[in-house]
Amino acid sequence: MISYCIDELLKKGKDAVHQDVIVKGWVRSFRSNRFVALNDGSTINNIQIVVDFENFDTEILNQISVGASIKVIGVVVESQGKGQEIEVKANQIKIYGGVNPDELQETVLQPKRHSLEFLREQAHLRFRTNTFAAIMRVRHALMFGIHAYYNQNGFFYVNTPIITGSDAEGAGEMFTITNFDLNQLPKDETGNIDFKEDFFGKRTNLTVSGQLEAEAAAMGLGKVYTFGPTFRAENSNTSRHLAEFWMIEPEVAFNDLDDNMDLAEDFIKYVIQYAIDNCKDDLAFLAERFDNEQKQKSKEERSELGLMQRLEYVLKNKFVRLTYTEAIDILKNSKTNKKKKFKYPIEEWGADLQSEHERYLVEKHFKSPVILYNYPAKIKAFYMRLNEDEKTVRAMDVLFPGIGEIIGGSQREERLDVLLRKMSEMNIDQDELWWYIDTRKFGTVPHSGFGLGLERLVLFVTGMANIRDVIPFPRTPKNAEF
Ligand code: 4AD
Ligand code: MG
Repeated sequence: MISYCIDELLKKGKDAVHQDVIVKGWVRSFRSNRFVALNDGSTINNIQIVVDFENFDTEILNQISVGASIKVIGVVVESQGKGQEIEVKANQIKIYGGVNPDELQETVLQPKRHSLEFLREQAHLRFRTNTFAAIMRVRHALMFGIHAYYNQNGFFYVNTPIITGSDAEGAGEMFTITNFDLNQLPKDETGNIDFKEDFFGKRTNLTVSGQLEAEAAAMGLGKVYTFGPTFRAENSNTSRHLAEFWMIEPEVAFNDLDDNMDLAEDFIKYVIQYAIDNCKDDLAFLAERFDNEQKQKSKEERSELGLMQRLEYVLKNKFVRLTYTEAIDILKNSKTNKKKKFKYPIEEWGADLQSEHERYLVEKHFKSPVILYNYPAKIKAFYMRLNEDEKTVRAMDVLFPGIGEIIGGSQREERLDVLLRKMSEMNIDQDELWWYIDTRKFGTVPHSGFGLGLERLVLFVTGMANIRDVIPFPRTPKNAEF
């Protein structure tokens, strides 16, 4: 008697015929008092269980209903019906947990099409739905592929702290950590909260990025990456922002901006290929879903390519590389801009690019992923390397169709004097970052890195439209349920 997960058993196919097996899972459907579609989460596919109802206790039969969890002991036989190679003829069924059919009506487990909004409201149950379980398996494969890529390429995985005193992006979008009694905050002589009394003896927050610590690690280990949760208290209630998201941040000593772009392109292509190779059934399901969604859209908004074609397209084509200045020229002279169709019209050099501009470049103008680089220093973080023109920095953003910015990175300012000047110009606390400044004092080297938002990658690969649908329990403004 062998206990199988359903994915394993279905892969064995006809080789498993005549075997006595045990399978466990949740009932997806029960037809004609005879056919159970059983799923255990290991694959999008169900195994069919055939129940000879004449030989079963009615008490057991009555409990086999959609959503119930069961164990089946039986024998594998070739399937007579269409749609599956094999099925399991049940000899014995054990019910782990039944379901009240009235209560089931109110849940996402009810076997019919549900809106994604409804699925979000029942985030604890949506793992049992085909769509969300497929997304979660793809998300898993992507994370695994990411580690595989860096491991194969000689990078070390470094865990950077989640609690930190610094603001790596200098944008002030942080969640404060404290164990103060919030009703009795200690105050100093000037009436301000006295963080010296707090747990860490100073003000601390949840990290917005592991980059600064990863830079320190790269200054000894050469090639490193971080992969952890990051937190941003930005009040952007969009389909692309989360307050808690996962970021992958490689950092490489001796890499310049061109090397950084090469790494980003090679890396992202590898992980997309990894998902294609390892998630065939789930992606086929999601591709069909994507097609159906596209049909509901206006011609303007519809993607010209299907999901798999879009992935293949990214793999086959070299990303367009273009400077911010070139991009501004294209945007300024575009029909969309001239007809005042951008919500934020492009008037002059120096403007920050909005998602609508990024998507125009990628989806309308180049019809290809784009790497924009050499941004104005004023709209980018303090740590980016200043160019000779003293106006632009060696920043790069990778822009993807349907997503906009998927990666943000840069060559870092390795020159101590320039770094200090930039920090004081941009009001960055030098006392807090004394250790970061130190890395420029002892054998400083050119180096580069970037951050990939995992959820934005999952959005792209699964063809989903809202970032809340690609993370198990999303954290967004006014929402920390579950
Ligand atoms: O461009 P960002 O802010 O860059 C950094 O944090 C750098 N320290 C990275 C580095 O150079 N090591 O963020 C990087 C990426 C973005 O391109 C985006 O994919 C994702 O992180 N991201 C978010 N994803 C979901 N929700 C949010 N609120 C995000 N903010 C950034
Ligand atoms: Mg960015």
